[in-house]
Amino acid sequence: MSTTMLLLNGPNLGILGRREPEIYGTDTLADIEKAVAEEVSGRGWDVRSIQHDSEGDLVRAIHEHSLSSVGAVVNPGALMIAGWSLRDALAAYPRPWVEVHLSNVWAREQFRHESVIAPLAGGVVVGLGAFGYRLAAQALMHLTAADR
Ligand code: DQA
Repeated sequence: MSTTMLLLNGPNLGILGRREPEIYGTDTLADIEKAVAEEVSGRGWDVRSIQHDSEGDLVRAIHEHSLSSVGAVVNPGALMIAGWSLRDALAAYPRPWVEVHLSNVWAREQFRHESVIAPLAGGVVVGLGAFGYRLAAQALMHLTAADR
């Protein structure tokens, strides 16, 4: 069994820290990677962090790591809204995964109120900023424990 978890981030999440900090906070993706790695280290996991601005690259990354990862935490960014090929890649991903959003998408524009990937997720963490990634990682450990 693999001990590598995937941390997948979609478009515009590579510029966290300087991207609308009043909405997304000041933590960078590197800060988040460090926090998630810290969270799962007790379980003996390491983190493979992948961020792409394009959907196809994310789809390819999911295919590539589907058999070599224990599960995933996924922030799809705006692909939540209509990322159908991302949705299909995750449908074929054989391990548990948790969706996370930094902002409270429900408190924002109407077009962010639906996620095409959420119905497939093991769970969704929304609106807790960078801390939400830690919670999503904990949830993933919980889901994979149940899954063993
Ligand atoms: C986001 C919310 C999305 O609606 C938005 O397009 C993002 C970031 C979040 O983490 O809050 O890129 O996924």
